Amino acid sequence: MGALTPLLLPGMLMLMCGLLLHAPSRHGARVKKPNFIIILADDIGWGDLDANQGEGKSNNTPHLNLMAEQGLRLTDFHSPASTCSPSRAAILTGRYGLRNGVTHNFAASSVAGLPLSEVTLPRLLQKAAYHTAMIGKWHLGHNGPYGPTSRGFDYYLGVPYSNDMGCTDAPGYNLPPCPACDSALTRSHERPRDCYSKVGLPLMENSRIVEQPLDPWTLTERYASAATRIIHAARQRGRPYLLYMALAHVHVPLTPPPAPDASGADVFAASLREMDRLVGAVKSASDAADKDDTLILFTGDNGPWERKCQYSGSVGPFVGKWQRSRGGGSAKQTTWEGGHRVPTVAYWPGRIPANTTSSALLSGMDIFPTLLSLAEVSPPVDRRYDGIDATNVLLHGGQTGHEFLFHPNSGAAGRFGDLQTVRTGTHKAFYITGAAEACGGATGRPQLHEPPLIFDLQRGEAEETPLRVGTPEYRAIAERVARGREALLWDIATDGSVSTADYSANASAAPCCEPTRAACRCNAHTDTHTDTHTDTHTHTIG
Ligand SMILES: *[C@@H]1O[C@H](CO)[C@@H](O)[C@H](O)[C@H]1NC(C)=O
Ligand SMILES: *[C@@H]1O[C@H](CO)[C@@H](O)[C@H](O)[C@H]1NC(C)=O
Repeated sequence: MGALTPLLLPGMLMLMCGLLLHAPSRHGARVKKPNFIIILADDIGWGDLDANQGEGKSNNTPHLNLMAEQGLRLTDFHSPASTCSPSRAAILTGRYGLRNGVTHNFAASSVAGLPLSEVTLPRLLQKAAYHTAMIGKWHLGHNGPYGPTSRGFDYYLGVPYSNDMGCTDAPGYNLPPCPACDSALTRSHERPRDCYSKVGLPLMENSRIVEQPLDPWTLTERYASAATRIIHAARQRGRPYLLYMALAHVHVPLTPPPAPDASGADVFAASLREMDRLVGAVKSASDAADKDDTLILFTGDNGPWERKCQYSGSVGPFVGKWQRSRGGGSAKQTTWEGGHRVPTVAYWPGRIPANTTSSALLSGMDIFPTLLSLAEVSPPVDRRYDGIDATNVLLHGGQTGHEFLFHPNSGAAGRFGDLQTVRTGTHKAFYITGAAEACGGATGRPQLHEPPLIFDLQRGEAEETPLRVGTPEYRAIAERVARGREALLWDIATDGSVSTADYSANASAAPCCEPTRAACRCNAHTDTHTDTHTDTHTHTIG
């Protein structure tokens, strides 16, 4: 590990300490390494978990509430970025986008993905004899060597990117941004142009397209049965496993079972309840197979997509008032709390104390070093990491997380990857503020803050009133965050293992089973269920 730290910067040591203090191997080898199930919800808000909202406010997540009661609720846990690809890249590499190269989203036509120089969590567990499986949304490049089965997963079933990035014949609530390409249109000469600029949404198994366009209404059941199959097969095999489940819930298009009243709010709540039942089904399968040896972690990839109005989730009290009063959204795509503070629950009977909470400042990047530590696997020493080993928080009631946690710009105006804000203790400093599009279309301008805008989240989780510049408290925090930020920037600047992602696009890079057919159709199902699909897919999970 010595080779990692030629520069003994305090900030850097802090960032690395989780890895440097890697738990020594226990005396007498553990008979069994633990299984890991990581469930990542899409576009979920901190307030969407009932248990975060307090008694009686809502009743949409009973299975997750129970999991929290039997485990640990992490209340100050953050997605590593405020949009999809950079968040997932940081989770799987334990590194900020400034190091792993993924600073914004990939497109359906992206030629590449997560740089091949990056080492992934599944790859390291795979080498340590874990069976590694992924279900759901990948969004880190789908071409050739960039797909999940080339990046450390033994098995993959899912959608290569977001479920609104393509046409489907059976769109859900808030349609994908292109008209459905029905078979009548593919025969006619009056094909809508959009139908050709977007390919049909594919469902992939390993590196093969199994259905295109995919019927999104079938995903929940497919994911539930695949997860159950994987858990049972792992038990038969007698090898530990990693199951990474990146759900389509609750990203639009929403495809919940029919709601009694199809108003927008009910559609979102029904979708949330469906997600909760899916999580419950996975937990039941795991409990039945290997309860005492399985860690389940539920978290989110970023905050709610506010501009989807009634089809987006709840940030709870983290409403970003400073930004809102100036126009624009303050959730997904932004570095306001609503953009990255995500509902998180950890469950491991007998190992994680039941019915506990921790307000340790943690990040999705910590999943990488924490799982490796629990599996007693050492990460490669030829690179630097930003995640910390949170074993002490998970297993021993620890309340200490990151000394500094940085939030990169990943979608609001400004340069991608820029470290806009710094968290330390209960304080949060903004060097740059930026807004996303709000429901209704309002946007705000990005603004530089010199000196930084500093909020104390303990005094106001809504980020409304910044500290007065020049007070002793302000000066102390400003000095501290400047030091932390400089240390990190210096550490990245001197990191010989920084990767650069290729974001080039080429229409022919989109996954397509039959390029000559509209929407790249294959295995096209019969076109009999245009409006009746909600009735034909009854939901049997839960
Ligand atoms: C969990 O903790 C809460 C609050 O401390 C308490 O009201 C509740 O009864 C506990 N639940 C269980 C199952 O122990
Ligand atoms: C796009 O990809 C196709 C097929 O691989 C290739 O022939 C073409 O030159 C590429 N176009 C660009 C602009 O790179």
